[in-house]
Amino acid sequence: MTTPMKITGLLATLIILAIIPVYSFLEPSQQESQLENYYTNAVLTSTDLYAENCVVCHGAVGEGIGDTPSLNSEAVQMMSENDLAKVIARGRDNTFMAAWAAEEGGIFSNSQIEDFVIFIQQANWDYVGARVAELGLIPPEVIEMEVSEEMLSSLASLEGGETLTAGLQTYAENCAACHGANGSGTTIAPAIDSADLRAMPKEEIIALVNNGVNGTLMASWQNILSSEEINATVDLIYRWQDLIATGVDFPEVEVMSIPASPELIADGQQLFNIACKSCHGVDGYGSPMAPALNNQLFLEETPDAAIYQIIAGGVSGTMMPAWGNRLNDYDLQSLVAFLRSMAPSAPAILPPILGE
Ligand code: HEC
Ligand code: HEC
Ligand code: HEC
Repeated sequence: MTTPMKITGLLATLIILAIIPVYSFLEPSQQESQLENYYTNAVLTSTDLYAENCVVCHGAVGEGIGDTPSLNSEAVQMMSENDLAKVIARGRDNTFMAAWAAEEGGIFSNSQIEDFVIFIQQANWDYVGARVAELGLIPPEVIEMEVSEEMLSSLASLEGGETLTAGLQTYAENCAACHGANGSGTTIAPAIDSADLRAMPKEEIIALVNNGVNGTLMASWQNILSSEEINATVDLIYRWQDLIATGVDFPEVEVMSIPASPELIADGQQLFNIACKSCHGVDGYGSPMAPALNNQLFLEETPDAAIYQIIAGGVSGTMMPAWGNRLNDYDLQSLVAFLRSMAPSAPAILPPILGE
């Protein structure tokens, strides 16, 4: 009677022996396919989040727009997971790269940030581009605001011409949107072409530009521009009268007047959803990333021209990008028209910012 037992025991052993290799063969491959699923899911969910939140700066296929670096480069893919997670979670100080982690005031959980890291390391950018197009989120084309050759050559012929041309270029790119194309100020910033200013010692003006003026739109520029650029721009302030005397044509930040039509407002709304919603929230109600625009206080106190200037020039030193070099006049007008169209129904007081 022991034989059948033994056979059973042997059979059991054989069966176990037979199964173990199968298991030990199966287990890693199950792990592998789970891991693969995990990666695929991370890449797929991040693709949509990328389309909604990152393409306006990094481009539909990660190519980078304007001064924003590309993400589809080998250099970025080779960055350590830790470094990638850090830059996405915390952003980079003094650049437009915002902190995206909820605990840093952003909108993503830590696991979403981890997914972004996997996404950047593994993304198939052709797929991402197709998905961005499918979602209708391809960002508008970059339009550079340039100072004409003619203007530069008339400056170059003046004494210290090299500094002046450098100063004018820096001014046109960074300051004109607020201080005005001809230096005589706008609704949101004082004139740069000012006798009072020229009466101030140079070091004081440089210090002002370096440090900004707290609590105003005048940001601290010392980490955004080089000291040479700031120096050249301040020189330009002292020489403004000389420039006018040469008959130099100043860069124009053109503000054509387009009457607000339903089409313009609709175009503005569509553009808002692509370029602004990720920070300013659905219908401009605000988010932890940026203040509400859909509120009586802001809309009443800010004339159209000022809204236009803020959108074109950005708010330096904050996450608010300058859109003037990537949106054309029509686009900017459409955004103003869309924001203005919300005035009749806008909440009277600032709605609480989500997450605070
Ligand atoms: C408003 C523009 C803007 C948006 C939106 C934006 N970024 Fe950036 N990003 C930048 C800039 C500018 C830099 C470069 C900062 C610097 O100079 O170090 C950058 C840098 C990075 C880097 C580091 C690249 C490198 O070469 O070091 C990563 C990664 C990155 N961004 C990911 C993202 C992700 C993911 C999103 C969306 C969740 C996003 N960014 C949204 C502007 C933006
Ligand atoms: C987003 C708008 C904005 C931009 C861009 C901007 N400024 Fe200003 N700037 C202001 C405002 C607003 C003030 C007034 C601050 C205050 O109330 O004291 C100011 C003040 C100044 C002053 C002092 C003027 C005075 O009469 O006291 C100087 C100088 C100046 N800015 C230079 C620059 C330079 C140079 C740049 C470009 C590198 C620049 N600003 C870019 C908004 C801006
Ligand atoms: C990366 C985030 C981000 C994006 C994208 C963004 N903004 Fe902003 N925006 C901000 C922040 C942050 C502020 C507040 C700046 C400050 O502290 O003064 C701001 C301020 C503004 C203001 C001034 C509000 C006020 O109360 O003075 C306007 C207008 C504005 N943004 C319009 C837009 C429009 C239109 C777009 C899309 C074309 C846009 N923003 C895209 C972050 C963003």
